[in-house]
Amino acid sequence: MRKMIAAGNWKMNTTLEEGKLLIKNILDGLMENPPRQQAGELEVIFGVPYITLPMASTMVKENPQVHIAAQNCYNKEKGAYTGEISVDMIKSTGAEYVIIGHSERREYFNENADMLAQKVDLTLSRELIPIFCCGEKLEIREAGNHFDVVKQQIEGSLFHLDADAMKKVVIAYEPIWAIGTGVTASPGQAQEMHAHIRRLLVNKFGKELADDISILYGGSVNAKNANELFLQPDVDGGLVGGASLKADDFITIINSF
Ligand code: PGA
Repeated sequence: MRKMIAAGNWKMNTTLEEGKLLIKNILDGLMENPPRQQAGELEVIFGVPYITLPMASTMVKENPQVHIAAQNCYNKEKGAYTGEISVDMIKSTGAEYVIIGHSERREYFNENADMLAQKVDLTLSRELIPIFCCGEKLEIREAGNHFDVVKQQIEGSLFHLDADAMKKVVIAYEPIWAIGTGVTASPGQAQEMHAHIRRLLVNKFGKELADDISILYGGSVNAKNANELFLQPDVDGGLVGGASLKADDFITIINSF
């Protein structure tokens, strides 16, 4: 069954203490304002900094609806890669998801399609769930090439997977022009791209599998616009940056389904 997902991407924000307080405030808020949907139907994910992973995993243990994600992993299993983090390390913290191919990773750390395919494979091999990000730059959209670029990103890093592996993947469409800018894709623009992504999945893996895959929208999702975005038939939730750092806003987003 396709899940609804509200995922926060904290990026390089929050010290250990700040992270603890944020998680506590969100968990307390969810006790007061529980989502209408059950665990399994709706998942809440905190994409926290590496240092926060063990503590966060422990803190959410009692709540079956809340899960923890790392924001990246390295594309090698282990060895002499100073400063990097492996999927085994992430797994050992209790985290269950890994965000892969965020546009900030692609842009500032030169992550390319092959590297991301390796990360997807490693993640799945440890039974971690990849949240695979795709999305176009403004000039690509203005040139009318956004559908092609997103197609290449998905084909280049996901279409080597077999159906069993593919059905575990979560996809996040994040147009780069909407990330951190306050300019959100309109619900229509989001729906159009999500439908395009689902069509690609239908063509490659069949309708049943494609219907089961959660496709999240990311890019200036906030407490006000989440509901309208999540109402779109192919928008199964959000990957939320800035607004996931404010407990009240993130709770409102979680309760926007
Ligand atoms: P934003 O970030 O919500 O702050 O635009 C989204 C993301 O980059 O995942």
